[in-house]
Amino acid sequence: MMRLSQCHNFHDFRRLARRRLPSPIFYYIVGAADDEATHRRNSASFEHCDLVPSILRGVENVDLSGTVMGQKRVVPFYCSPTALQRLFHHEGERAVAGAASKFGTLFGVSSLGTVALEELRTAHPTPQVYQFYFHKDRGLNRAMLQKAKEAGVEVMMLTVDSITGGNRERDLRTGFSIPFRLTLGGMLQFAIKPMWAINYLTHERFKLPQLDAHIDMSGAALSIGRYFTEMLDPSMNWDDVSEMVQLWGGQFCLKGVMAAADAWRAADIGCTGIVVSNHGGRQLDGSRASFDQLAEIVDCVGDRIDVLMDGGIQRGSHVLKALSLGAKAVGIGRYYLYPLAAAGQPGVERALGLLRAEIERDMKLMGCKAISQLSRDNLRFR
Ligand SMILES: Cc1cc2nc3c(=O)[nH]c(=O)nc-3n(C[C@H](O)[C@H](O)[C@H](O)COP(=O)(O)O)c2cc1C
Repeated sequence: MMRLSQCHNFHDFRRLARRRLPSPIFYYIVGAADDEATHRRNSASFEHCDLVPSILRGVENVDLSGTVMGQKRVVPFYCSPTALQRLFHHEGERAVAGAASKFGTLFGVSSLGTVALEELRTAHPTPQVYQFYFHKDRGLNRAMLQKAKEAGVEVMMLTVDSITGGNRERDLRTGFSIPFRLTLGGMLQFAIKPMWAINYLTHERFKLPQLDAHIDMSGAALSIGRYFTEMLDPSMNWDDVSEMVQLWGGQFCLKGVMAAADAWRAADIGCTGIVVSNHGGRQLDGSRASFDQLAEIVDCVGDRIDVLMDGGIQRGSHVLKALSLGAKAVGIGRYYLYPLAAAGQPGVERALGLLRAEIERDMKLMGCKAISQLSRDNLRFR
């Protein structure tokens, strides 16, 4: 039987998560769109980039701290917002926020989160990012912004790469959806993971508090699939977002920017940050890997707004390479979801600790004492 203490990297946590989770849930996390090519390339792209270390520069102490969108962060990575965390482990967002707070970094709360953003805001001092989807009902958008503002959310993050749902064939095969509509095979997979079911059933009822306050998601009234097709607004354009930025009047970030021209326009309408992201390959398959697209975007807008990136991060060296290209912080998704599923908050803490240790070690080996000393001079591309 594998234990948390035997997990030393991304792959170990993934393996443990696979043992603990009913497979329809595990494959919801694993999965990406179509042939999953973008998802694979997100991690593979780091291997086209080699590090050229500097030596003999006195590196006893390494400082990983910095600022992103006006927020102090102790480590250069943050927990990107992801949906449905209490399905993966009964502690859900509470575990992720708690771990992020211990490491002094930002955590994202999804619109499809399973713990209320207000509860998380009061539980921890670390900055909270609230991930927003744009609804057809403008009144609803305004009410949700107002609620987040009152709760003291520091950064608004509008996801712009999900104008329609990605084609996740693994979910089609298992029948994964909220509410559950499992295939017979999918149901069997729940039956053989009774510990998960006991935990799920003996803890607080599953809910989507960010939406429940505004939309009736109870029972089978509205599935998440229908929420996307019926409630969200595919006509969303730059004028709508510009209005939203004004209304928010604080740190505002677009998540899912891939084209340099869009990054430029984001700065024009007053965004203070963008995340170069393809949603972990879960939306447009064939989209370029985030790391491959990062330099172009930093060159275009790096002196106007904070450029962040996510996608495929499995190692400290990946974070280090993205920072060297000019990213102000790097988002992780599956990297914390597998340890969450495997072991709750202790799992996430172990994973974040390993990532921090890897970055610190690699900084020393690179001859860098501070993030500001990382640059493209120490990178070569194949
Ligand atoms: C299971 C899962 C659920 C996600 N849910 C959301 C979400 O609700 N909103 C959002 O903007 N991004 C969501 N994402 C995307 C992540 O925020 C992030 O962009 C992506 O996971 C980064 O890639 P990585 O998993 O390779 O690190 C989700 C990703 C996963 C794996």
